Amino acid sequence: MDKDLTSDIMISKDTTLKPLPPTVRLVMFLILIPALCSAIEVNCSEPTQPALLEALTPIFNMSAIRPVVNMTTRTNVSTFFTLYGILGVDEKSQLLITYLWLDYWWKNELVFWDPNQCGTDKISLPRDKFWVPDIVINEFMDENTAPPVPYVYLYSNGMVHDAQPVKVVSSCNLDIYTFPFDIQNCTFTFNSYIHLAMDIMIFLGKSAENITKKSKNVMTTMGEWELLDITSHKDKYGHDDGQYIDELSFHIRVRRRATLYVVNLLIPSCFLITVDLFSFLLPPQTVDRSSFKMTLILGYTVFLLIMNDLLPITGNTIPLINVFFSLCLALMVTSLLETIFITNLLSGSADFSPLPRWVRVFVLQFLGCLVCLPQKTKEPKGSDIKFSTAMAQRKADEGPPGEMMLVAEGKAVQELRSLGRDLQAIRLQVEQQLCGSKSSKEWIQCCLLKVKPSKVLFIFISVLMYASCSSIMLNCSQPDPPSLLDALRPVFTLSSIRPVMNMSTPTNVSIDFILFGILGVDEKAQLLTTYIWQKLEWRNDFIGWDPDQCGSSRITIPRKLLWVPDVVINEFMEKNSAPFVPYSYVYSDGLVQDEQPVKVVSSCRLDIYTFPFDVQNCSLSFNSYLHRMAAMQIFPTIPVEEILKFSQEVMATMGEWELIGLSVKKLQLPASDGEPYEELRFFVTVRRRATLYVVNLLIPSCFLITVDLLSFLLPPKSIDRSLFKMTLILGYTVFLLIMNDLLPITGETIPLMNVFLSLCLGMMVASLLETILITNLLCGSAHYPPIPRWVRLFVLHFLGRLVGLPQKPRDLEDTVFQNPAAQDIKVSFLVAEDNQAPGPKGPLDEDKALQELRSLGKDLQALHNQLKKQTSGSQSSEEWIQ
Ligand SMILES: *[C@@H]1O[C@H](CO)[C@@H](O)[C@H](O)[C@H]1NC(C)=O
Ligand SMILES: *[C@@H]1O[C@H](CO)[C@@H](O)[C@H](O)[C@H]1NC(C)=O
Ligand SMILES: *[C@@H]1O[C@H](CO)[C@@H](O)[C@H](O)[C@H]1NC(C)=O
Ligand SMILES: *[C@@H]1O[C@H](CO)[C@@H](O)[C@H](O)[C@H]1NC(C)=O
Ligand SMILES: *[C@@H]1O[C@H](CO)[C@@H](O)[C@H](O)[C@H]1NC(C)=O
Ligand SMILES: *[C@@H]1O[C@H](CO)[C@@H](O)[C@H](O)[C@H]1NC(C)=O
Ligand SMILES: *[C@@H]1O[C@H](CO)[C@@H](O)[C@H](O)[C@H]1NC(C)=O
Ligand SMILES: *[C@@H]1O[C@H](CO)[C@@H](O)[C@H](O)[C@H]1NC(C)=O
Ligand SMILES: *[C@@H]1O[C@H](CO)[C@@H](O)[C@H](O)[C@H]1NC(C)=O
Ligand SMILES: *[C@@H]1O[C@H](CO)[C@@H](O)[C@H](O)[C@H]1NC(C)=O
Repeated sequence: MDKDLTSDIMISKDTTLKPLPPTVRLVMFLILIPALCSAIEVNCSEPTQPALLEALTPIFNMSAIRPVVNMTTRTNVSTFFTLYGILGVDEKSQLLITYLWLDYWWKNELVFWDPNQCGTDKISLPRDKFWVPDIVINEFMDENTAPPVPYVYLYSNGMVHDAQPVKVVSSCNLDIYTFPFDIQNCTFTFNSYIHLAMDIMIFLGKSAENITKKSKNVMTTMGEWELLDITSHKDKYGHDDGQYIDELSFHIRVRRRATLYVVNLLIPSCFLITVDLFSFLLPPQTVDRSSFKMTLILGYTVFLLIMNDLLPITGNTIPLINVFFSLCLALMVTSLLETIFITNLLSGSADFSPLPRWVRVFVLQFLGCLVCLPQKTKEPKGSDIKFSTAMAQRKADEGPPGEMMLVAEGKAVQELRSLGRDLQAIRLQVEQQLCGSKSSKEWIQCCLLKVKPSKVLFIFISVLMYASCSSIMLNCSQPDPPSLLDALRPVFTLSSIRPVMNMSTPTNVSIDFILFGILGVDEKAQLLTTYIWQKLEWRNDFIGWDPDQCGSSRITIPRKLLWVPDVVINEFMEKNSAPFVPYSYVYSDGLVQDEQPVKVVSSCRLDIYTFPFDVQNCSLSFNSYLHRMAAMQIFPTIPVEEILKFSQEVMATMGEWELIGLSVKKLQLPASDGEPYEELRFFVTVRRRATLYVVNLLIPSCFLITVDLLSFLLPPKSIDRSLFKMTLILGYTVFLLIMNDLLPITGETIPLMNVFLSLCLGMMVASLLETILITNLLCGSAHYPPIPRWVRLFVLHFLGRLVGLPQKPRDLEDTVFQNPAAQDIKVSFLVAEDNQAPGPKGPLDEDKALQELRSLGKDLQALHNQLKKQTSGSQSSEEWIQ
C-alpha cells in the first residue's frame, strides 16, 4: 500500500518535472526508486536473519541523519522508565542516585519490511548502526556507570526499541528542613540535548501510575529510601513554531526511612538531655556536678560532629534537627553555668557580705511564695541579742578585779580568767563560722529559686545572515535528508582539516555557556566542580547548500564527522564525565553549533582566609590548545550579564555555594613559539552559604569559651577544676578535628576561623595551667614559708588596688601571729614556770583545785594555739593565692 502510494507520487512528480517517453520513464523509475522513495522497503532473498541483515545494510549508511523522509517531520520519541533502585542521596552535594531501566521508542521512517517475506517481524542489531535520539536527563551530572547494552530492536514497521540501564546521579534540590523525616521531590527532565522541538518531540510511553506500580514491584532493595510515587508533567508551549526544546519531566517522591536516625541520633541525645536534667538531683556539695556536666557536653559535641558530616549547608533553611541539637547544647551550657554559679555560692558565699535586705525580701518572700519554696524558719533574732547581753553580763561579773580576794584565790581566778578568754576566743571563732554559713544559706536559697527545675528556552540566535561567500555549494539530488547526507559526504572526508578555503583566514569560534550547577569546592585539593552547558559556534567554509533544493536549512549530524575546534578549559583537571551528546547542528550557510554538557573540575586558587564567610573568584579560561591567533580567534557569543541571568534562573540546587557574579576578560597571551594565542577568561564568583557553619561550629565554640571563662567561679578548693577544664579542652579538640577535615593546608594564610579556634584553645590551656598552679598553691601553700614582704607589698597592695581586690581586714593580733615561735616559747616558759612552782604557797585543797584548773588551762591553751596556727597558716595560704 505504502509503496504504491509513494510510487504514484513519484510518477506524478516525474511527469511534472520532465515529460519523457514511458520506457525511459520506467527505467528511470526503477533506477531512482531507492533514492527517491525514502522509505526503503527491504526485500529479503529468503526468510532468514542473514538475508535480512544483508537487505538492511544500505540503511546503516544513513545512521548519521535523523531517519525521516521529509525534514519537517518530527521524530516522536516515547519514553518511560522503571525505577529499579534508589541507591542514595548525597545531601552535601545535593544529589540523588538512582538506577533506572530506560525505554525509548521511535520510528525509523527509512525502513520497513514484510514480516512474512523475511521470516521475522523484529531483529536486534547494534545500536551504533542506527541513529539514536540524544535524549538526556537534564539533571544527570555524572557518568553512566551501568553496564552498557549495545543492541536495539528494529521492528518490521520501522519502530525502534532502545532499552538500557542507567545509573543516574542527578542533582535534586533536597529539602532537609524536616530531616530525618523528610520527603524529597526530585525531578527527571527528559529532553533531547540539542534537537529543537521541530525535530524531536518527547511523549510519555506509559502512564505514570503504571510506572509507579511497576517500579514498586521490581524494587528489591530496602535501603534508606522508599519510593512514594512518580508523576509526570509536560509543559505545553502556546506557540508551536518548534523553536524550543521539548521536555518531559517526572517527579519522583521518596521518603527517608528514619528509624536508624531516630535510634542513632535522636534517642541518644534525648537520653543525654534527660541525664542533664536529672543531674540537678546530684547533691552539689558532695559531687563534682560541673565536671559531670562538662563531660555531657563533650558527648554532645560528638553529635554535632556527626551532623556536620551528614547535612548539607544550604542557605535558606536550617534543618529542625540542627535547631534541636543547638537548643540542647544551649540548655546544657546554661545548666552548666548555673551549676558553676551555685557551686560558687555554696562554697564562697560565706565570705560574702550578708544578703541585702531588699534582695532577701524580694526573692525569698515574694518569689519564694510564687514557687512555694519552703520558708526557712528564722531563728529568733532575740537569741543574738540575748547572747551578747549574756556575754556582757558575764564580762561585768568577771570584770571587777579582785582586790578583796586572797592571793591563792587570785591565782585560781587568774587561771579561770585565762581559761575563759581562751574559751571566748574559740567561741567567737566558731560563731563567726556559723554566721557565715547562715548568710551563705540565704544566698543559695535566693539562687535556687531561679533555677528550679530548564531548562531555559534555548536561545536560538539565527545567525543565518552570514554572507554565503566563497564556500562550496553542495547540490542535493532530492529535497530529502538522505540526499543531503549524500551531498555532505565529501565534507566528511575533509573533517581532519580546519574548514577554511584560505589557510590564512582565521576561524572565529564563539563561546558561551550556562552554569547549571555548582557541585562543590574541594578546599584541600583546591578544586571547584561545576556543571556547565557549553556551546561553541563556528563556520565551516566547506558547507553550504540551498535550503530549497535540499528541503531543509539545517540538519543534525554526529560531531565526529566534522572538524571541531580544540577548545579546552585551561583549569580543567579531569576527564569530562558528563553524559555524552553526539550531535551538532549544521546550517545551510556553514554555521556549526556544537553543544555539550561538561562537568568541569577546575583548579582554583581558593582563598579561605575568611572561612566560612568566604567568596571565591575562580576562572574558567577557554582557549584553543594548539591553534594560535592567526588560525583561531575566540569571542563571547552573548553578553556575560545574560549568561549570569540564565545561570541563576536554571540553577536548581540550593547547595553550599551560591553564584553571585560572572565577568569576562579577553586576553592575548604569547605562546612559547612567540605567536600570540587568544584566551577568553570567565571569572565565576561564588559565595559560601555560612549559616550551618555558624550554627554547627561558631556558636558551640563560643559556648565553650563562655563556660571556660565562667569556670573561674568554681571554688578551687572543693571541686577538681583542672579535670573540668581538661574535659573542656577535649571537647574543643573535637571542633579542631572538624576544622581539620574542612580546611586545606595552605602555606601563606591561615583562616581567621582557625586563628580564632587556636586562640580559644590557647586561652583554655592558659586557664588550665593557671588552675593547676592555683590548685598546687591551695594544697601546698600552708606549708610554704610566709609570703615575702616585697611580694606582699607589690602584689597585694599595689596590684590589688589596681584590680580592686578587696583588702583583707588585718587581724588585730597580727603582730603576735607574725612570730608564732616566740609565742610558743612564751607559753612553754609559762608552763615550765608553773611546773617548777608547785603549790607550797597555798593550802592543800586549793592547791589541788588549782592544779586541776591549771592542767585544764594548759589543754585549752594548747587547743587555742593549734587553732591560731591553723588560722595563720590559712591566712598565709590565702595571701599566696591572692
Ligand atoms: C522489493 O520488492 C517489491 C515487490 O515485491 C518491489 O516492488 C521493490 O522494488 C523491491 N525493493 C527493493 C529495494 O528491491
Ligand atoms: C556506504 O557508504 C560507504 C562509504 O561511506 C560506501 O563505500 C558504501 O558503498 C555504502 N554502502 C551502501 C550500501 O550504500
Ligand atoms: C515536507 O512537508 C512539508 C509540510 O508537511 C511540505 O510542505 C513539503 O513539500 C514536504 N517536502 C517534501 C520534499 O516532500
Ligand atoms: C508526532 O506528534 C505530533 C504531535 O502529537 C503529531 O502531530 C505528529 O503527527 C506525530 N508524528 C509522527 C511521525 O507520529
Ligand atoms: C514536585 O515538584 C514539582 C515542581 O518542582 C511540583 O510541580 C510537583 O507538584 C511536586 N510534587 C509533589 C508531590 O509535591
Ligand atoms: C496500565 O496498565 C494496565 C494493566 O497493567 C493497562 O490496562 C493500562 O492500559 C496501562 N495504562 C497505560 C496508560 O499504559
Ligand atoms: C552545484 O550546482 C551548481 C549549479 O547549479 C554548480 O555550479 C556547482 O558546481 C555544483 N556543485 C557541486 C558540488 O556539484
Ligand atoms: C589568502 O588570503 C591572503 C590574504 O587574505 C591572500 O593574500 C592570499 O592570496 C590568499 N590565498 C589564496 C590562495 O586565495
Ligand atoms: C573573524 O573575526 C574577525 C575579527 O572580528 C573578523 O575580521 C573576521 O572577518 C571574522 N572572520 C569570519 C570568517 O567571520
Ligand atoms: C576576580 O579576579 C580577577 C583577577 O584575578 C579580577 O579581574 C576580577 O575582578 C575578580 N572578580 C571579582 C568579582 O572580584
